[in-house]
Amino acid sequence: MSAIIAKDLTPAFGSEVSGLEPQIPLDAETIATLRRLFDECGLLVFRNTPVDIKFQTYLSELLIGNDVPDPDALYINDKFMISNREPKGAAPRGRLLFHSDQMWSAKDRVDLISLYGKDVGQPATPTIFVSAVDAWETLPEDLRKKVEHRSAIQHYDPEVYRKRAAGDTDVLVSTYDTGEDFTTTPIAYTHPRTGKTILYVCQQTTQKIADMPEEEGEPLLEALLDHLYASGKEFAHKWQEGDFIVWDNLAMHHARPNVEIEGPARTLRKTIAPFPKSAIKGPKYDSIVEA
Ligand SMILES: [Fe+2]
Repeated sequence: MSAIIAKDLTPAFGSEVSGLEPQIPLDAETIATLRRLFDECGLLVFRNTPVDIKFQTYLSELLIGNDVPDPDALYINDKFMISNREPKGAAPRGRLLFHSDQMWSAKDRVDLISLYGKDVGQPATPTIFVSAVDAWETLPEDLRKKVEHRSAIQHYDPEVYRKRAAGDTDVLVSTYDTGEDFTTTPIAYTHPRTGKTILYVCQQTTQKIADMPEEEGEPLLEALLDHLYASGKEFAHKWQEGDFIVWDNLAMHHARPNVEIEGPARTLRKTIAPFPKSAIKGPKYDSIVEA
């Protein structure tokens, strides 16, 4: 049995976890401890914890509450790399604004993301997190009242993302074949597993507030984004090779400063959970193309 020790990363979210023995299967007590920590903290950081892709996939499914009765039957994808070195690496360069993967998607919701530091040179560009659960809890009363019964329109539009980049040419503006139209989601979004309320808008995906004139909706959305990304609330994970991190993609937003192709190696092996059926048929999720 793993002797799990957890240490808070920030007052609001995140836990550094030590003592995990990455073996399959994990015992029931360890699974329960890790699930509880994941739901309470939103981000788990296992420093210097070498894991293979099978364990990474296995733990990803377990943490969102799925039982994995037959680990050998897991769909394994060991080619999904965030990398400035791998020939087909996703997001090979650039800065990424805060986002929640696939927030636009009604059918392929991403509940969890994990990254494993496979090849990491120094100084490595960090991954930065904020909590959209904490953002809702700390939202000023006047803003809360204005949006608690409202919805937002989600879509991936490179032009809107470019506008949010505010002229920073380092920002990587990707194109995605979303294959989906605009989706409408509550701004006060109830987390499907924890029941917590999430401030469910982000820099990358949220186009506008539904059923509100633009001159009123645009400054309101800006105020929500300013609150979400106010400085002092973030946690930056400074990568070392062998680090394994897992986060709740609904509750947390992630971003990164600039990555250069010629900079230190930065290859992070990624999993998402649940594994979307549509990804099995094609390269949609690992062929992010620079616009
Ligand atoms: Fe992402």
